[in-house]
Amino acid sequence: MSYLDIHLHALPGVDDGPEEITESLLLLKGMTDLGFSAAVVTFHLDADHEDRSGIAEKSYNELRKAASDQGGIGLSGYTAEHRIDPLFLRNYNTGRVLCYPGTRFVLVEGTLGPAGLPPNLNEILFRLHLKGLRPILAHPERYDTIQADPGILSALRDGGTWMQLDLQSLVSGYGRAAEKAAKQLLEKGLYDVAASDLHHAKDLDQLGRSLEALASQLGQEEVERLLGKGPAEVAAWASGETTR
Ligand SMILES: [Fe+2]
Repeated sequence: MSYLDIHLHALPGVDDGPEEITESLLLLKGMTDLGFSAAVVTFHLDADHEDRSGIAEKSYNELRKAASDQGGIGLSGYTAEHRIDPLFLRNYNTGRVLCYPGTRFVLVEGTLGPAGLPPNLNEILFRLHLKGLRPILAHPERYDTIQADPGILSALRDGGTWMQLDLQSLVSGYGRAAEKAAKQLLEKGLYDVAASDLHHAKDLDQLGRSLEALASQLGQEEVERLLGKGPAEVAAWASGETTR
């Protein structure tokens, strides 16, 4: 089975991912070795930084060509990891959000740390649905709010939001509380998709251990759902609509 990654910060020179394309290519080679055959690469979009959409597009075009020359994992587009903040709340009202190629799925994250998820998150996500968007909440297990009460996720998911496990959470990549919450949420079957959220080649070993942890907790069938079928739907790989 080959895996598809919908959340991978491999774009060189854009934000907190690789600075140089040489590291991006090393990262992509490592992903291939771990069993990934395709990825949509991501960059951060939030009110604290300038809008890097233009830089991301240029970086993506360079990386896609170099990755294709290298062989291995194929790049199927790029998208933004939108932080739910005042900028996002303004932009989605005017349709200025970046969806996954060929779909209406949009990747969102809350603020990590004590600020936690917005208290009116359910309402925000509902309004996204009304706009025809399909939100995917990145790494819910890493938010204090969810760690304190993982059950909150059920209501959000019932409202149609997809939940994305950050694989590295399974091996304490983000601390014990995130690991514990991730395992609880997996046990409850509350994830729709898993992704690497890898930023640097140095973390490839950790990602390898995360994949082993996932398989040992869930078995191969569930791994295929979270890293095969789920991501295929998100990025329209299944329908071949990888136009961007
Ligand atoms: Fe991310």
